[in-house]
Amino acid sequence: MEDMKYEDVNGDSKESRLKYHDGSERTVLVTDIEIPYPEGRLIVSSTDQNGVMTHVNKSFVEMSGFTKEELIGQPHCILRHPDMPPAAFKDLWDKVQAGERWQGYVKNLRKDGAYYWVYATVIANIRDGKVKGYTSVRRKPSRKKIQECIELYPTLF
Ligand SMILES: Cc1cc2nc3c(=O)[nH]c(=O)nc-3n(C[C@H](O)[C@H](O)[C@H](O)COP(=O)(O)O)c2cc1C
Repeated sequence: MEDMKYEDVNGDSKESRLKYHDGSERTVLVTDIEIPYPEGRLIVSSTDQNGVMTHVNKSFVEMSGFTKEELIGQPHCILRHPDMPPAAFKDLWDKVQAGERWQGYVKNLRKDGAYYWVYATVIANIRDGKVKGYTSVRRKPSRKKIQECIELYPTLF
């Protein structure tokens, strides 16, 4: 994944260096701008077994700020926000790889440096008894839950 570019970012941003689970690193640019989750929409994506995106719906494209072409074939961690504790994603992968459903609140980073909160449900796609990939369906989170996460997540680093 490439570093984020200043020309893609809207507003004043802070640089942050992210280390991913595979050891790779990337510089991201984050602003304080929150994009509210759109009413009545589901944001959906599917990945292969490694978390590389294979499908994204229109709401996903609109909210992430990337084009569909920029997303397909990229790892899902392209949306990772530095405020998200790695423990949350460890829990996600432990659950879905064990065939269990994972639900949680995620702060996602957009291409333009802004962020949006989602309530995600992630499941394994199983065909012929084998895990073929994963799907995440996201709904609008309540403001109360977002506030709880804003307080809790910094303590999980
Ligand atoms: C179906 C699916 C959807 C995911 N959605 C997101 C997401 O919206 N935002 C995100 O930061 N990580 C998401 N992840 C987790 C990433 O794959 C990754 O674990 C996370 O961004 C942390 O990066 P790292 O594991 O490389 O450290 C998703 C994973 C799966 C399997």
